[in-house]
Amino acid sequence: MTEETNQSSTRAWRDRLEALKNIPPVLRIVWDSGPWIVTLGLFFRVLASLIPAAAPVVGKYILDIIQGIVQRHESYAQHASRLWTLVGIEFGIVVAGNLIGRVIDYYDRVLADRYTRYVSVQVMEHASALDLQAYENPVFYDRLERARVQATDRLVMIQSLGRLFQQVVTTAAFSGIILVYSPFLLLILVVCLIPAFLGESHFAFLNYALNFRQTPVKRELDYLRQVGGSKEAAKELKLFGLSGFLTERFNRLSNAILDQNLALSRRRLLAAAPLSILSTAGYYSTYVWVIYETATGRTTFGDFQLLTAAVMNTSNNISQIFSLLSGIADQALFLTDLLAFFQMQPTVVSKPDALPAPRPIREGFEFRNVVFQYPGTERLILDRLNFRLEPGERIALIGQNGQGKTTIVKLMTRLYDPTAGQVLLDGIDLREYSVEDLCREIGVIFQDFMRYEMTARENIAVGRIEYLNDDERIRDAAEKSLADGVIRKLQYGYEQMLGRRFEGGVDLSGGEWQKLALARAYLRESQVLILDEPTAALDAKAEYEVFERFNELTEGKMALFISHRFSTVRMAERIIVLENGRIAEEGSHDRLMAHGGRYAEMFELQASSYR
Ligand SMILES: Nc1ncnc2c1ncn2[C@@H]1O[C@H](COP(=O)(O)OP(=O)(O)O)[C@@H](O)[C@H]1O
Ligand SMILES: [Mg+2]
Repeated sequence: MTEETNQSSTRAWRDRLEALKNIPPVLRIVWDSGPWIVTLGLFFRVLASLIPAAAPVVGKYILDIIQGIVQRHESYAQHASRLWTLVGIEFGIVVAGNLIGRVIDYYDRVLADRYTRYVSVQVMEHASALDLQAYENPVFYDRLERARVQATDRLVMIQSLGRLFQQVVTTAAFSGIILVYSPFLLLILVVCLIPAFLGESHFAFLNYALNFRQTPVKRELDYLRQVGGSKEAAKELKLFGLSGFLTERFNRLSNAILDQNLALSRRRLLAAAPLSILSTAGYYSTYVWVIYETATGRTTFGDFQLLTAAVMNTSNNISQIFSLLSGIADQALFLTDLLAFFQMQPTVVSKPDALPAPRPIREGFEFRNVVFQYPGTERLILDRLNFRLEPGERIALIGQNGQGKTTIVKLMTRLYDPTAGQVLLDGIDLREYSVEDLCREIGVIFQDFMRYEMTARENIAVGRIEYLNDDERIRDAAEKSLADGVIRKLQYGYEQMLGRRFEGGVDLSGGEWQKLALARAYLRESQVLILDEPTAALDAKAEYEVFERFNELTEGKMALFISHRFSTVRMAERIIVLENGRIAEEGSHDRLMAHGGRYAEMFELQASSYR
């Protein structure tokens, strides 16, 4: 064996073991999704698996009676009632087998549906508990996407698991029958099946390992498939004429996979033939032995028939067990991401004895020597940042793209925790407060706020979902954010479905969506309001109106707003200029202009572009 194949075979072994680890947690999920259904399913499966063994046993007694009558001229009349009772029993067993098969099928389907629902709910719950950090990590995000897909449609896997169980029980029953006749016979059979057994398992695992190694490519294929059919990409695909490029890449990748699979199938074909000849030889040698025993009168016809059935079934079952196992391992492989996803734990969580958020806030927020670095990156986004936001104060935060403005908002809302230093609220570290309670006191609208493909009402109500049916509050929030003007133009007003995904949905312009999103912040009735460039899609005049309104409405409240437009920023009582992770300048518009520093420079630059 060459060095390379040696290495690849050790890796294959590692992958195999790796992959098998998935099976117990998958079983656990299946069990949790319906313990009763699993139990009933297993119960019927035990019955079903004994039937293939029970019928030949009854058949043996029938044959023995017939042999007595025909060979030894025993009286038919004497045996008739026993004979026909046995026939009746055998018939009963076969009918029962058929019925039980249907019952099992029914339970499998119910279980598969339960499983899908259970896993989907678990994925949603778990996802919402995880840190934002996880979402902003592309690897995680990928994994979540796949976990979502993997949550559904596992009927095949569930059926295979059940069948595997059934096959094992049936094989055990038949082996028991052979053992009763002759332990020696069972030994021959087992010895001869070993090569086939090893061969089957070897290839099953190789196949599995191959699948495992192909996952990254399969992910890319999934991605290409998704891009090729996505709404977001459709415009560019058409205008840039990208579909050929995507299809070509898809073909290239999938051809590589096909080639690898084909190569393995060929090897399997070549190796499987000699192995199967070996196991057939084993099966035949036991068969020969049984024929000899019967021909020389040491065994009855009934026993002959039963043993033949047992031997044949055992060797068939063993190879089936292997193909089932590899099928299940295959399916479990697809659940790798789901399981990894379930294992992730959030780090931003409330302490067990967390404090409620202060009501009212007396001293405000303070960033004290805050250092922040996104996990897994080098750059210090915030470098010993210090600033305060006091009750009743409204400040504007400005700075060029990528200076860390949004990051500050994420730290205030505990979407992240600082790498070093502290964010305090009323002199107490944010980490001491209950996360949920803290969030209730802060209304934030981010630049990349969500456009829910739901009704206009729901799009506002998500700001505080308890108020979904509170018409007055919703209307009031819409009025404050100037969204009422948008809604008035909609055919069904607040009940208008928005977005293009669902029938009857109406898409809004960027600016219109922003006004709706803003209404969420007003609906929250929180003590602190934060707007992180949510008005970027509005034109300068519309943004000015929105902020003027914001200014009126937040009179006496704590507010932080982030904008690129100086026409808006200048309204703030205090302006903070963020640069290189620290505050470069702060003060009112007039003071900063007089100071003639960064602010004045940026202001001039923007103003000149309007002239
Ligand atoms: N999740 C993240 N992981 C790594 N880097 C990030 C992440 N989010 C933002 N950044 C980087 O941090 C810097 C500050 O981002 P951000 O706070 O969004 O800037 P701003 O809002 O001022 O434009 C940017 O350089 C950005 O690329
Ligand atoms: Mg930002």
